Amino acid sequence: MTAHPLVTLQNVTKSFDHVTVIHDVTVNVYPGQVQVLLGENGAGKSTLIKMVAGVYQPDGGQILVDGTETTLPTTRDAERHGIATIHQELNLVASLSVAENVMLGRTPTRFGMVDRTELRRQARAAMALIGLDVDVDTMVGDLGIAQQQLVEIAKALSIDARVLILDEPTAALTRHETQALFAVMADLRQRGVGMLFISHHLDEIAEVGDTVTVIRDGHFIAEVPASTSEDELVQLMVGRSIDDQFPRRADESPALTEVLAVSHLSSAGRFDDISFTVRAGEVVGIAGLVGAGRTEVVRAIAGADRYDSGTVTVRGAQLPRGDVQAAIRAGVGHVPEDRKGQGLVLDASVNDNLGYATLSSSARFGLADFTGQRRRAEAVSETLRIRMNTIEQPIRSLSGGNQQKAVFGRWIIAASTVLLLDEPTRGVDVGAKVEIYELMNSITAAGGAIVMVSSELPEILGMSDRILVMRDGRLAGELSAADATQDAVMTLAARDVATQT
Ligand SMILES: Nc1ncnc2c1ncn2[C@@H]1O[C@H](COP(=O)(O)OP(=O)(O)OP(=O)(O)O)[C@@H](O)[C@H]1O
Ligand SMILES: [Mg+2]
Repeated sequence: MTAHPLVTLQNVTKSFDHVTVIHDVTVNVYPGQVQVLLGENGAGKSTLIKMVAGVYQPDGGQILVDGTETTLPTTRDAERHGIATIHQELNLVASLSVAENVMLGRTPTRFGMVDRTELRRQARAAMALIGLDVDVDTMVGDLGIAQQQLVEIAKALSIDARVLILDEPTAALTRHETQALFAVMADLRQRGVGMLFISHHLDEIAEVGDTVTVIRDGHFIAEVPASTSEDELVQLMVGRSIDDQFPRRADESPALTEVLAVSHLSSAGRFDDISFTVRAGEVVGIAGLVGAGRTEVVRAIAGADRYDSGTVTVRGAQLPRGDVQAAIRAGVGHVPEDRKGQGLVLDASVNDNLGYATLSSSARFGLADFTGQRRRAEAVSETLRIRMNTIEQPIRSLSGGNQQKAVFGRWIIAASTVLLLDEPTRGVDVGAKVEIYELMNSITAAGGAIVMVSSELPEILGMSDRILVMRDGRLAGELSAADATQDAVMTLAARDVATQT
């Protein structure tokens, strides 16, 4: 059985501002197969799939659909050929409802009017596919990032596609939701849909993939079966092996100085009576399911949201509620879960984004110290290996993982000593993850304190000294690094387990 490819990128090349980011790469998508694209942050994965999605046009090479040379000048043209795309950066309209977003551009009408009943019905059907249980009339802006990701997936699934492109669809999802997506993918595969799949979670590759195309710096490196071992995949991807995935210093016990104290913090409908402390040198992980209130607690501590009662104290001084600037002055840095919505000013330069927390405070003689800022920004970009052409380019044009590193870099420049990290390595490649963990280690080694929310259990287990587990807005328990296992965490996190009244 040698099926013909549904779509082929044939020896394509792509440049931005005279810098070539894709060099002569060929990728095929076959019916009923999942083609994985693998590469480091900035390798060119999203750029490749955007050429199939009608977002970018190749500068050289060809696009073949069903073996025929084709141009895809717009996303509409791609859709017309049955190509649906789940983009890495969500393309949702915050002020529209879930139903309107899912059906955007394909609104059903009746007698020339929007058929609201039909609109809701079709949207509900799409959401049922992935098991997303929210009211379709909810504004998308009111949803958390994981739920927004599921809406984006539902939107692509509601198009009867022959080719489905998934650019890091699982980055914002927990295991449970990922499984629901994989079940849908298995079904589509059965029905002959061809898929292009991108993920930095290497364990997902063997689970859903058939073939892997590895690219490095925009060059084709290899095509291997999806059953290839993770070690080999890493080797192909980064050109070296990675020995220690979680370089946590296990031997050093944290000092006794309390850096952060959260006491009886409550916010109606979000979280209730949260108390914990973090000492100098400590990493405290917060685990839980999507919707458990982890992000809300961290945002309250960071001053991003107000809360009803309780206190947040940093080195003995109580922080005012809902005051981000006061938190920054107290040395608190916040890496939010939604980098696009809350973390970055997308049209501003990399330099400005890195300087966001410091430029006003480093002012000399009342004037912002632009030269010093740029020097610091360049140094941090180097340390974090942020891949870019120039530090003045808009941060929007950086790859997703490199944008994430920039959010982190801002707090390195600000020399924050209390770091609140919400899914800090989302979309970050395996090599850069280790670099971020090493940075965390250097911060704690210098007496800093870190709170890390993460849905990746291996990361929580690998990097935390203590683990708090949240369930339904409350602390369900605490585990020491020694006692913590995936099972122990999940038992505390899962709603249906505790039935005490
Ligand atoms: N519109 C653009 N303007 C300028 N440079 C761009 C643009 N889009 C992408 N690039 C550059 O192309 C390169 C590849 O980016 P791409 O987004 O394809 O990477 P990626 O493999 O998807 O990475 P990640 O894993 O971080 O998502 C990067 O160096 C990026 O900065
Ligand atoms: Mg990408």
